[in-house]
Amino acid sequence: MIRLEGITKSFGSLQVLKGIDLEINKGEIVSIVGPSGAGKTTLLQIMGTLDEPDAGTVEFDGTVVSWMKEKELSAFRNKNIGFVFQFHQLLPEFTALENVMIPAFIAGVSSKEANERALEILEFMGLTERASHKPNELSGGEKQRVAVARALINHPAVILADEPSGSLDTHNKEELHQLFFDLRERLGQTFVIVTHDDNLSKITDRTVNMVDGMIKKV
Ligand SMILES: Nc1ncnc2c1ncn2[C@@H]1O[C@H](COP(=O)(O)OP(=O)(O)OP(=O)(O)O)[C@@H](O)[C@H]1O
Ligand SMILES: [Mg+2]
Repeated sequence: MIRLEGITKSFGSLQVLKGIDLEINKGEIVSIVGPSGAGKTTLLQIMGTLDEPDAGTVEFDGTVVSWMKEKELSAFRNKNIGFVFQFHQLLPEFTALENVMIPAFIAGVSSKEANERALEILEFMGLTERASHKPNELSGGEKQRVAVARALINHPAVILADEPSGSLDTHNKEELHQLFFDLRERLGQTFVIVTHDDNLSKITDRTVNMVDGMIKKV
């Protein structure tokens, strides 16, 4: 599904990624763990084509993304990859429903269909009653579920999540983690999740350990 080969990345004189080889299989739920500053977010951004490596290749289902032009790449990203960030990054002036619909609009889906899809996902997340609320009228757990719904609207094959449960309490954390497994069960999605949460990394199919810009062999 995703194949990274020989990925390196520096910011100025600081080499943050020192040659990463990693393969993620379709339908796999993989956690990435490691100390602060190890390069986890940088790796996820490169995997998600939001940032470019200095060297190495990123491949999705055999397509090398570095060969794509920016316009082609953003269309590819919008269609194939869903992102969930540590802080939900919902747009404050828009309702939960509208926030979920936005990536579908960008993909050129009609507003009728975007509306239907968004309502269906929100229902699956148990958020039907909250659809017309703005982010500041939602709890932390609800906001994070809306952010997951937004990541799902274009039915991406892959969801990349950077500490998605970092700002949640234990109960909401467990619910969100369960949601990832439910989604995989139902839609066969692939998940790569950066986390500091041992309870999550313990239940994922595989844990990738990053230390100082490298993957630690266990
Ligand atoms: N845009 C940038 N410019 C300069 N340095 C950066 C940039 N992004 C990240 N870094 C540096 O790269 C290193 C790795 O950062 P990264 O965000 O990938 O770490 P992380 O493993 O996600 O850490 P955390 O667990 O704290 O989120 C850090 O030392 C960070 O300061
Ligand atoms: Mg990080």
